Amino acid sequence: MNDTQIPAELIHTWRRADFVAVLTGAGVSAESGIPTFRDALTGMWAKFDALQLATVDGFKKNPELVTRWYDERRVACAAREPNAGHHALVRLQDEVEARGGTFVLITQNVDRLHQRAGSRGVIELHGALNVWRCSNGKCGRQREETGGPFGQYPPLCEACGNPRRPGVVWFQENLDPATLLAAQQAAAASRLFLSLGTSSLIHPAAGLVDLIRFNGGKSLEINPEATANSGAMTWVIRGKTGEVLPRLADAVGAGN
Ligand code: OAD
Repeated sequence: MNDTQIPAELIHTWRRADFVAVLTGAGVSAESGIPTFRDALTGMWAKFDALQLATVDGFKKNPELVTRWYDERRVACAAREPNAGHHALVRLQDEVEARGGTFVLITQNVDRLHQRAGSRGVIELHGALNVWRCSNGKCGRQREETGGPFGQYPPLCEACGNPRRPGVVWFQENLDPATLLAAQQAAAASRLFLSLGTSSLIHPAAGLVDLIRFNGGKSLEINPEATANSGAMTWVIRGKTGEVLPRLADAVGAGN
C-alpha cells in the first residue's frame, strides 16, 4: 500500500462509525491559495512576527498595523474559493448524516471556507476573520464584515469610538469555553477522528485526538508531512487533503 492509498480497514471503520469528528488546520485551505502558518515555503510566521501581530500586546502596541494585517487577510480569504478537500468534507458529512450518524467538523481555520463549501455545524475554535468586535469589553459590539477593506485602521466602534479588533483567538488568549467544550465532547464521543492539514502543535486543538483513546475510537491523519501527533494516529496518509479527501469520499460511497 503506498502512502496515499485508502486502507481497507479505514473504509470498514468508516462505514461502522456512527460518530465522526474532524479537526482541520491551515493545510486544508492551502490548496485554495491561503498560506499556512508554519510551512517552510508559504508559512506566514516565516514572514510575519506572530508575537507582534497575533497577540493582545501586539494589538495594544500597534492597533493600526495589527488591524490592517487582519483586514488584508479577511479580504484575501474572501477572494479565495473552497477547494476539493472542503467539498469532499461536505460529501462525507452528507454520507454520515444520511445513515443517521453524527458528523462534527472542528476547525482551527478562520477563513470560513468550510461554511462556504456547505459544511454544517462547524465549530470554529479560533474564531473567524470576518467577525470584528469592539475591543472595549464593556461594549463588545460585534458585526460580520463582508465588504472591502476598511477605510481606516484601526476601525473604530460606531457605538463607543474604541478600536475594533478581529474576532479571532490571539496567542495569550483563551478559547471560548463553550466552543472548546463542544469540540472536546465531540472528539470524546467520536468513533473515528480525522486530523487534517494541521501541524498539531497548538493546544488545546492538538490535544483533541487524545480524547478518543478513552472510548476506543480510531484516528486518521492526512498531511503531506509528519506532525506532532502522527505517532498517535491509527492511520496516516501522506498526501494533500485536496487530493486524498475526494478519494476517501469515493471509497466510502459518499455521493457527489
Ligand atoms: P500550520 O501552519 O501550523 O500547519 C499546517 C499543516 O498543513 C502542516 O502540517 C503542513 O504540512 C500541512 N499542509 C500543507 N499543505 C497541505 C495540504 N495541501 N493538505 C494537507 N496538509 C497540508 O497550521 P495549523 O496547524 O492550522 O492559531 O496551525 C494551528 C494554529 O496555529 C492556527 O490556527 C493559528 C496558528 O498560529 C491561531 O490563529 C490562534
